[in-house]
Amino acid sequence: MNFISRSQIKKLPKAELHLHIEGSLGPELMMKLAKRNKIKLKYQSLDDIRAAYQFSNLQSFLDIYYEGAQVLVCEEDFFDLTWEYLLRCKEDNVVHAEIFFDPQTHTERGVSFNTVITGMKRALDQGNRELGISSYLIMCFLRHLPETSAFKTLEEALPFKSWIKAVGLDSSELGHPPSKFARVFEAAREHGLLAVAHAGEEGPPEYIWEALELLKVRRIDHGVRSMEDPKLIQYLQQKQIPLTVCPLSNLKLKVFKDLRDHNLKKLMNAGILVMINSDDPAYFGGYLGDNYFECAKALALSWEDLKTLARNSFSASFLPDDEKTRMLNLIERTCSDHM
Ligand code: HPA
Ligand code: ZN
Repeated sequence: MNFISRSQIKKLPKAELHLHIEGSLGPELMMKLAKRNKIKLKYQSLDDIRAAYQFSNLQSFLDIYYEGAQVLVCEEDFFDLTWEYLLRCKEDNVVHAEIFFDPQTHTERGVSFNTVITGMKRALDQGNRELGISSYLIMCFLRHLPETSAFKTLEEALPFKSWIKAVGLDSSELGHPPSKFARVFEAAREHGLLAVAHAGEEGPPEYIWEALELLKVRRIDHGVRSMEDPKLIQYLQQKQIPLTVCPLSNLKLKVFKDLRDHNLKKLMNAGILVMINSDDPAYFGGYLGDNYFECAKALALSWEDLKTLARNSFSASFLPDDEKTRMLNLIERTCSDHM
């Protein structure tokens, strides 16, 4: 078996389709923004922050993730957060990113929707101009909050509709099935927004069916529990519905006990359109390149597997077809000389 190096992984042009911008808030920036905004964190030092990142499940992570997000207050904070992520993209050769943001995490604390999206958009435009990274924003509804709050968020988003590609659904999955948001997703789709949803991370395959049938999503975020339902696997394969898989996240949140047990390769073998993503890289111990590298090692992925995953990341993106073709050609051109 060939050993895949970090520099080979870096050479692969990649897209990231499952990244929560609030989950890219690293300890250093968190401390800096807490000082700048005079916000008292419950952590005294960078080591304190890092030590807190021990999770037993999704909820234990979300509690800490919402705590950290409090330091984001001004437009400049959202700019800095997004810019820092784009610089990491550049390091990993991520050339396209479809980025989740959680407006309710901020509007519930009195930060305006305008502040959140304007700061991010300014960084994304600069990233496009100066780093050559294309991007879309995906606005997520927090599923632990009521439908009325999601509708209010959709209203607030409408003046900025041209900056938003799709709506998504995240936060605590168990007990909050996609059906709870069928009406707000319908309204969002009527406004021309595409749809995705987290499903089958901790929740059962039925939640994935609901996301497909009731929310009419184009992709499933995570979806690793689809393997428990052969009919669902057959459906995802036939319709080529992408699963945005996040291996290091699944490891940290104990969806799989060991990365060697992860079903990424099994999903690939079943003909599912999967790719690798980092989810909340500042909390889960790795950005996109790290996720590729750790999976290559743990699952003995070949160079051809990694190329397939990178190709899938563009095929499953919301880029227009000509841009997808350009990216697929770029993979062939940059990587044909490799192994
Ligand atoms: N699942 C659900 N909600 C989230 C996640 C996740 O992995 N990351 C940030 N919000
Ligand atoms: Zn996620």
